[in-house]
Amino acid sequence: MTENYMVCNCKQVSYADIANAIQNNTKFDDVLKTFESVQKITHCSTGCGGCHQKVLDIISNIINGAAI
Ligand code: FES
Repeated sequence: MTENYMVCNCKQVSYADIANAIQNNTKFDDVLKTFESVQKITHCSTGCGGCHQKVLDIISNIINGAAI
């Protein structure tokens, strides 16, 4: 079962939206660069910014998991 929940309430971006954006992007090297791409695709963390760390944590988890 895929883990899914709302990560960014301002922009209604879910965990699955972020995971999909990373899959489409296939740049697994750098968390901040990937964050920028994910932000462009999903517009997450462009509202209040409160989800910024959550988004970074999710990206780094996915990147680390995918790199093994
Ligand atoms: S919750 Fe993501 S920008 Fe506000």
